[in-house]
Amino acid sequence: MGGGIAQVLAAKGHEVLLNDVDEGRIRKGIEAIAKRLDRDVEKGRLTGEQRGDVLAHIDARPHVHDADVRLAIEAATERIDVKLDLFRFLDQNTPPEAVLASNTSSISITVLGAVTSRAERVVGMHFMNPVPVMKLVEIIRGLATDDATFGFVRDLALGLDKTPVEVRDFPGFISNRILMPMINEAIYALYEGVASVEAIDTVMKLGMNHPMGPLTLADFIGLDTCLAIMNVLSDGFGDTKYRACPLLRQYVAAGWLGKKSGRGFYDYTASANGAPAAVPAAAR
Ligand code: CAA
Repeated sequence: MGGGIAQVLAAKGHEVLLNDVDEGRIRKGIEAIAKRLDRDVEKGRLTGEQRGDVLAHIDARPHVHDADVRLAIEAATERIDVKLDLFRFLDQNTPPEAVLASNTSSISITVLGAVTSRAERVVGMHFMNPVPVMKLVEIIRGLATDDATFGFVRDLALGLDKTPVEVRDFPGFISNRILMPMINEAIYALYEGVASVEAIDTVMKLGMNHPMGPLTLADFIGLDTCLAIMNVLSDGFGDTKYRACPLLRQYVAAGWLGKKSGRGFYDYTASANGAPAAVPAAAR
């Protein structure tokens, strides 16, 4: 998602410093951005020159220290230990007046803010995947987030042609408090043998007009991320209605993480050209 966020910011003329601990991932991120921009050129939405401009606004580098930025947007893996370390690092390696935002799907902004010396300038900026397409940005106010910080990221989101929505800092915010239990329930239906993978997805696509069925969407988001979010809901509310389905746990334990690992509820490995083959994997 970091690449998508970098792309939409660069496309609006912001200077972006794209950072990751792993050089390979940076390269893959830039390649993915270039590929999406190529499609925009093919479709006549961008000229070749504009494509070059967008890429020229992204300075991709590993291991950045003392970054002179106004805003840092963290989009690391959905693990609290990783995010806490990153927020401590960002607090020490960005100007004190910079805003620190997290693209977390569910981790508490208040908790992230508390490990910095500027909790009032820590905020959630939750983009949706695929970032260049999806209009929503959930803006999460931690307990200490001040109005100036909220206003800054709201205006930035508006400038990216996104629709910002203000949400308070409770587990899963709004998006994943509602989406993830629906996905988890679809996995329970599969686990209990109520219907097949394809049948469950077809019901939600054709019956409810969802663009993707819940199991396809779970593969798209990543099953490890889905499990991490369910755990945040379960721990945060202490309510058994948020317990993760054992089948979801089992898939993650097996390394079946969805599209990114080649297999989840669907099998993405069989295709000759790298596009998802979308062959339902045996559920049990
Ligand atoms: N990156 C950038 N653009 C993409 C893309 C991607 N990964 N995937 C598709 N697109 C673009 C395509 O280029 C296409 O645009 P053009 O044809 O104009 O170039 C457009 O989206 C539509 O794509 P397709 O026709 O190939 O496919 P589609 O009509 O099925 O749409 C989709 C694809 C937009 C992904 C659609 O299936 C969809 O909206 N799915 C649901 C997505 C969703 O729910 N996202 C939220 C996930 S939850 C999350 O992100 C946060 C969290 O906390 C877990």
